[in-house]
Amino acid sequence: MAIRKKDIIHLYKTYYMDRENEQVDLFQLLKQEFSIVNAVYPGSYVQISPAFVYPQVVFIDADKNAIKFFKDNDRIINLINSRKEYDTIPNITFYGRDYNNPIKELLGLFDLLISQYAGFISSCCKQYLKVGGYLLANDSHGDAGLASIDNDYKLVATIRESNGKYKLSFNDLDKYFIPKQDIAITKEYLYKVGKGLSYTNKASLYVFQRVM
Ligand SMILES: C[S@@+](CC[C@H](N)C(=O)[O-])C[C@H]1O[C@@H](n2cnc3c(N)ncnc32)[C@H](O)[C@@H]1O
Repeated sequence: MAIRKKDIIHLYKTYYMDRENEQVDLFQLLKQEFSIVNAVYPGSYVQISPAFVYPQVVFIDADKNAIKFFKDNDRIINLINSRKEYDTIPNITFYGRDYNNPIKELLGLFDLLISQYAGFISSCCKQYLKVGGYLLANDSHGDAGLASIDNDYKLVATIRESNGKYKLSFNDLDKYFIPKQDIAITKEYLYKVGKGLSYTNKASLYVFQRVM
């Protein structure tokens, strides 16, 4: 169904506020622990909540409703202004395109790359992270598993979510990404499967650091 312009801002309310899935406390936790100032969010859909916490956020999504949503810049900025937790003017940019297409002006700029439920972002968008920057990934589509076999990344923390509360852990990191089945995990295999594999130990989310 076509969504009318005046309703478009409600996509955020419907998908994130009403479902209590804004994850503001998750983004706060990462800001406190890893001193995040800016973030890039490929496959963001309309999840603008990182911009409540980080003064600079770049969103990338090819979905037609996301493209319509981000055209309503004034209302988005009003919403961010009403929720933001920093003093400066929010700096948000949206690219309505496939995140696999490189965006030269973003190379090496970001403290945080966000990958949630939107495919294999860790590889093609790694170039937007500073060396030393962080990747937040879940394994819904296998992206955390992909980062775990990528030598440019090192697992530095896991995050458990329970009843909407997030808890960071730095313990037993070597116990993650051990497959239950006796299989060799490769990039090709993960792309073929297209979802998270069965591992002996799982977290809700993972934090990797770009080391190279
Ligand atoms: C299931 S939604 C997840 C949205 C958000 N990350 C979240 O956690 O709520 C997946 C989003 O990824 C976007 N997406 C998937 N593949 C993409 C690609 N190659 N380029 C740009 N956007 C993509 C889709 O358009 C969709 O908006």
